[in-house]
This record gives sequence, C-alpha cells and structure tokens, in this order.
Amino acid sequence: MDFNPFRSGLSVSREAQSFVFFIFGVTGDLTRKKLMPALFSLYAKGHLNRFKIVGFARRPWTQEFFRNEVQGMLQKPELLSYGKETLEAFLKTLEYIQSPFEDPAGYKKIDSVCEGFQNRIYYLSTPPDAYGTIIEQLGAQGLAKEKGGHTRIVVEKPFGRDLSTARKLNDQLSRYFREDQIYRIDHYLGKETVQNLILLRFGNGIFEPVWNHRYIHHIQITVAEKIGVEGRGNYYETAGALRDMVQNHMFQLLCLTTMEPPNDLNPDTIRTEKVKILKSLRPISFRETSLYTVRGQYGAGYMDGKPVPAYREEPGVAPDSRTETFVALKLFLDTWRWSGVPIYLRTGKRLARRMSEIAVRFKAPPLELFPRAWAYSGRNALIIRIQPNEGISLIMNAKIPGYTLNMRPVNMDFSYGSAFGESPPEAYERLLLDSLIGDSTLYTRRDEIEASWTFITRILKGWEEDPSPIPQYVPGGSGPEEAKNLLEPSTRWRKL
Ligand SMILES: NC(=O)c1ccc[n+]([C@@H]2O[C@H](COP(=O)([O-])OP(=O)(O)OC[C@H]3O[C@@H](n4cnc5c(N)ncnc54)[C@H](OP(=O)(O)O)[C@@H]3O)[C@@H](O)[C@H]2O)c1
Repeated sequence: MDFNPFRSGLSVSREAQSFVFFIFGVTGDLTRKKLMPALFSLYAKGHLNRFKIVGFARRPWTQEFFRNEVQGMLQKPELLSYGKETLEAFLKTLEYIQSPFEDPAGYKKIDSVCEGFQNRIYYLSTPPDAYGTIIEQLGAQGLAKEKGGHTRIVVEKPFGRDLSTARKLNDQLSRYFREDQIYRIDHYLGKETVQNLILLRFGNGIFEPVWNHRYIHHIQITVAEKIGVEGRGNYYETAGALRDMVQNHMFQLLCLTTMEPPNDLNPDTIRTEKVKILKSLRPISFRETSLYTVRGQYGAGYMDGKPVPAYREEPGVAPDSRTETFVALKLFLDTWRWSGVPIYLRTGKRLARRMSEIAVRFKAPPLELFPRAWAYSGRNALIIRIQPNEGISLIMNAKIPGYTLNMRPVNMDFSYGSAFGESPPEAYERLLLDSLIGDSTLYTRRDEIEASWTFITRILKGWEEDPSPIPQYVPGGSGPEEAKNLLEPSTRWRKL
C-alpha cells in the first residue's frame, strides 16, 4: 500500500492532512460497496488523521441513523478485525446533510461543517445527470474557492456520454475549479497490476528493447464479465459496452501498455504520454465501423446451469434495444513504435468467466526451424492478468521430453498473492488516498478524456448510421462469432 511506483520521486507524504470529505449521494450503492469500506480501511491503517466525513443526500436520515447505516456498511471480516474501538472512533467522524442536490439551502451548511478545517474534498457519487447541478451550486455559493487550504472535487464515471457532453462537463468544472483541483476517477487505475504495468515496462531492462513493431505481432486486451446487467438495465441502456468499458478502463490499459517511457514520474509527464497514444489512434471513419468493430448482445440461455434472460428481456431494456453488451475493436496506433501492429480490444457481459488481461504476442523467430511443432505451439506471449489472480505469465515453447522434437507452450508465472504474501489493496483505497494527498497521477486529465471521446464518438456515429442487426451471442461463451472476423488470418482470440 505504501509504495506507489508512480509516486516515487515526488515529495508527497502518504498521510492525509486534516480534511473534510463530502460524499454527494451517500445513500447510494457505491458509497456502501466501496467508498465507506475504503475510507475506514485507510483510517484503520493509520493514513488518515484529523478528518470528518460528511454525507449529502436527500433521504430524511438523522445523524444517528446515518452512523448506524455506515456501521452496517463496514460489517466485513477484514474490516471488523480492526476492532470495536477503531470502528467507534471512525463513526464519530460522520455527519449527514439532508438536502436535494437542487436546493441551495443544503450547500449553505457546508462552510459551517468545515469549521476548524482548511481542506475539503467533494466526491460526486451520484447519477451523472446530477453532476452539473452540484458543480453549479458549489460554484455559485463560492464553495469551490480555496480558503487557506485545498479544495478538490472527485468526479465518478461516466464522464460524459460523447465528446460534446464530456466537453460540456469539463467546461462546467473549469468555470469554478482549476484543473489541478479536479480528480476524474477511473477505478481501473487503482488496481495494483495496472500500476505495475509501468514498472514492468520501465523498471526492467529486458522488455523495452522488444516492445515494438519489430518483435510484437499483436496485442489483445480483454475485459470479460460473467454477470449481465444485474437490474441496472435502465442505466445500461444509456451506456453500452463501448462507453462503459472501452472509453475509460480499456483505453487506460491501452495507454499504459503502449505509451513511450516518461522522462520522470510526475503526474503530468505520465498523463502527457498517455494523451499522445490516444491522439495517435488511427480514426475509424463512419464507413469503416463494420471493418474494425463488432457489436453483440447476449441472448437467452443458461449460466452455471441456471436459465438467464436475453439482454432485450431484462427489466428496463427496450425489446428492440440496439445497446451493445459486447464489443470488439481492431485498432492501430500511428506511431513509429507501433506502426502496423494490430491491437485488439474486447469486452462483454455474460461471457464464460470474469477475466481481465493484456496479452502481448511476440512474432515467430525469423527462421522457423520447427515448422510443424510451431503451428501447434503458437507464439511467445506475455500475459498481464488484472483479475482474477493478479500477476504476470510469460508463455514460451519447451521441448516435450522424449525422442522427438515436439514442443508445447509452458508458463512462467508470477502471482501477486504468492510472491508478496498478501493481496493487493482495494483500488478505491489507493485512489481515495491519492486524492487526499494531492497525487493526481492515477486520475484522468481533461485532454485525456477528450482525446478518448473524440475517437469513441466517431464509432458511435458510425453505428448510428448502420442499420444492420446486432449479433446475438450465447451466454457463457466468448461473444459473437463475428468477432473472429476482425482478426488477421494467423491470429486467434485468447480462450476465455
Ligand atoms: N455502484 C457501483 O458499483 C459503481 C461503480 C463505478 C462507478 N459508479 C458511479 O458512481 C456514481 C454513483 O453510483 P451509485 O451506484 O452509488 O448510484 P445510486 O445507488 O443510484 O446512488 C445515487 C445517490 O445519489 C442520490 N441522489 C440522486 N438524485 C438526488 C437528488 N436530486 N438530490 C439528492 N440526492 C440525490 C441518491 O439518493 P436517494 O437514495 O435518495 O435516491 C443516492 O444517494 C454513478 O455515477 C456511477 O456511475 C458506481
């Protein structure tokens, strides 16, 4: 937890100064599942000193009811192990402001709650259509200003739904907050393996010389989920896999895998390198979407022996919905390093298993001495597993013992759990602590968001113009058959 490879060299302490942390939408799902457990864990581990956590939402909860609710959110064995006294001390830091987001009266209480504290953080854990209202209210009442300390705002995903809405939200934010006060969260960047990517690439001498078009055949990035929309059909109808997964999480993985070495580890140096990658993505024009993208929707079927409905039969989903629950893309980066290397991305719901990984496939040796064996064994690959079982595997070919020259792929494995004897910390813990201490490396900058939306919006427009039916796929499989058509002849999708 204490060592952030991105951070070394920066003179920031890992202990947050005194602060008030406001959670807008504190009665919601994200607060219960992630934010409160992460804040408590940071406190119990000694990273937070003097602070208050203030919930802001419209339910008529009393202070006592709020504390009881939060206590309920912390009933996990790993949190209970910190003991009753720690829990009680944490609960004492909580306060609740009951107010609809639209009502200025609620915001008038903010300054008085902050008395005795110079630093404050506003965390927007609300439906995205509420962001604008809250930003305007904070701005109009002078609550974005810094009064001797710092004032920061953390914005949850989704950040816009296309280029123009993302720009509008950025404009709204920048009317009241400076860029260095704004923290756009992408919880994928809080995952240890994602951060380890940069260390793997630039902290080892062996990878960088081969990390280019001369040695790499292609890259595959997969984020597969087993679950369906799980009752969130209404939300998912407005999103789809491209917006929900690719524009943010998968593009972050793409950037960290392919960016140039940064000159130092300052937040802005790294983010500048990421922006360069997003800007070098070869645009997929209107007419090319069917050549470089494949969409799909899960049909009805069985998962683990239980019947599951088709996406179009889920509550809140239109029976003729064209929202994709699966997407695969073939991308190219027009850079010196990556010229001609296909990069395949795929993500979907109701697939065979939950799995996220980056697979870097290397080219065959220049002279194929073992042609038949080669065809069987496949190429070398470096697999970076993000979940589950975070770690890295190198796949290489080895001779099968015996009198013939047969070979098969074998794995060299590194797993976080066994190598360090502990599991990596929760992504939200890392990210919340970073926002408290002012380390923005793992947060997305304005130009990064807009560059990714520029690329994604073109695809969305192309899809709007394309009336062809959306392929349906069988639950528990690897997505629509059509995704295979994106691949070059000598390439296969990795097995899910
Ligand atoms: N849930 C997750 O696992 C997850 C993961 C990643 C990102 N996110 C993002 O995090 C954000 C929050 O998600 P969530 O799942 O926690 O949403 P949620 O369960 O729908 O909670 C929304 C919160 O906002 C409050 N709210 C909505 N409109 C309000 C208004 N006009 N005035 C006052 N309060 C209002 C709700 O209060 P009431 O209870 O009174 O309605 C509730 O506290 C979303 O942007 C989501 O995309 C969520």
